Amino acid sequence: MNQTATSTDGSEGLPRDRRLPDPCAMVIFGASGDLAERKIIPALYYLCRERLLPDVFSIIGCGRTPLTHDQFRDKMQTAVAEFLKLSPEEKNQFPASFGKRLFYMQGNYSEAPAYEKLREMLDQLDREQGTSGNRLFYLATPPSFFPVTVKALGDAGLARSKDAEHNWTRIIIEKPFGRDLASARELNRIVTSVFQEDQVFRIDHYLGKETVQNLLVFRFANGVFEPVWNRRYIDHVQITVAEELGVEERGSYYEEAGCLRDMIQNHMLQLLSLVAMEPPAAFRAEDVRDEKAKVLRAIRPVPYDRVGESAVRGQYRAGHASGGPVPGYRSEPKVAADSATETYAALKLFIDDWRWADVPFYLRSGKRLPKRASEIAIQFRRVPHLLFRDCATQRIEPNLLIIHIQPDEGMSLKFSTKLPGPVMKIQPVTMNFRYGEAFGASPPTAYETLLHDCLLGDATLFNRQDAVDLSWQLVDPILSRWKDDGERGLAFYDAGSWGPAESDAFLAADGRAWLPPDTSH
Ligand code: BG6
Repeated sequence: MNQTATSTDGSEGLPRDRRLPDPCAMVIFGASGDLAERKIIPALYYLCRERLLPDVFSIIGCGRTPLTHDQFRDKMQTAVAEFLKLSPEEKNQFPASFGKRLFYMQGNYSEAPAYEKLREMLDQLDREQGTSGNRLFYLATPPSFFPVTVKALGDAGLARSKDAEHNWTRIIIEKPFGRDLASARELNRIVTSVFQEDQVFRIDHYLGKETVQNLLVFRFANGVFEPVWNRRYIDHVQITVAEELGVEERGSYYEEAGCLRDMIQNHMLQLLSLVAMEPPAAFRAEDVRDEKAKVLRAIRPVPYDRVGESAVRGQYRAGHASGGPVPGYRSEPKVAADSATETYAALKLFIDDWRWADVPFYLRSGKRLPKRASEIAIQFRRVPHLLFRDCATQRIEPNLLIIHIQPDEGMSLKFSTKLPGPVMKIQPVTMNFRYGEAFGASPPTAYETLLHDCLLGDATLFNRQDAVDLSWQLVDPILSRWKDDGERGLAFYDAGSWGPAESDAFLAADGRAWLPPDTSH
């Protein structure tokens, strides 16, 4: 039985972007939380507005906060209007265009009666709205509720389709998927004891970002880049995910997570695997996921006793950011006054395979850096010999390709040109491609794409368990070492700076430097 492949509207043979998902009921656990308000519901509204949702599509929000259907609809109307910047007219149309699809159910995730009530509501929607028995569950609760919710769905018989020939049931599981290798494996054991792997969609929203998907198109739909995409031409790769914001209200979560778990284990290792993977045989979920897993498997392990050679961590002190003074991490709400949690991390990784042997991949991420900028920089090698008189090779900058993930999505390529005039002078120039300029609009955020894919049963941009496992396997020794070391080895940086000096020294030791993220490309 394939729980994900069938389409009941006869649109199966159509290209991916033209297919309409089946009628369906979606259940969002954690619907009164931040993620639902800021990302999930606005993304569903966007899909509805773009006519990418089926006519029959209902959403049941489940949460612990007591709300009526109307209160939930009002709350979501306000959230969507704010996050999608709706015009007053569009906001007024919300109840008729989208609000009518929303329902709310208050319940305790760990109690069986809540799931009985949920089943009744789903049956009622099938009868009254025609949702056809197709179900999508979305776990957007705090991660500690994932196991109990999954088990309860299984016990209530909600994990299996009513009629496996004609219906499907899927589940989206938010990050973090576990907090180390052991807990990720345990969570997976629970999930796969209830759901089959092809029903499970482990979300990493970075994979839905337009520029991230475009990386695959860029590499594999153009002939010119792939021949130079290897150790022979590439000196090193830098992946930066810089955030201007601090931890805001998420202190209690972040204290348990830290930057390595929050950003690197998932988002950044996914970016790395897309940059480094071999061409898959086809743009199909299993082919793409196989190639990504091979990269993760080939990353040289970072042993516990040599973490210092491969990783740097830092924490922000008070400083200036977002146009004013801001407190240090230890003074943020719900953060311990002596916390050793890292808000910045940098890693140097090697991929031990033929394509990438000895090419360092530098990854860095941090909060309270000078600006929000996510980029992948491919630094090419210098030309081997320079034939122009009076020009030293060292003075010619090597080619640099930058993939700007956000903001100002696009790409830029730096290359050398001759300055006009009788004297031979060489200067680098940059050729830019910007999404906004080329296509007249900024791409949607990632959740629209991922939700649409999941509704179509396409798991290409979702994580398979082996990738999750391999990523934890890599970061586990670093996490243990940092935990054991406590404050020893933790570097500090001023909020609003580009991270600790130790991180610059880390690259300088290799004769390299971090490239300043350039959002004005
Ligand atoms: C989340 C992290 O996964 O990604 C946050 O938990 C982080 O701490 C966020 O701020 C960054 O996402 P984006 O899409 O804004 O780059």
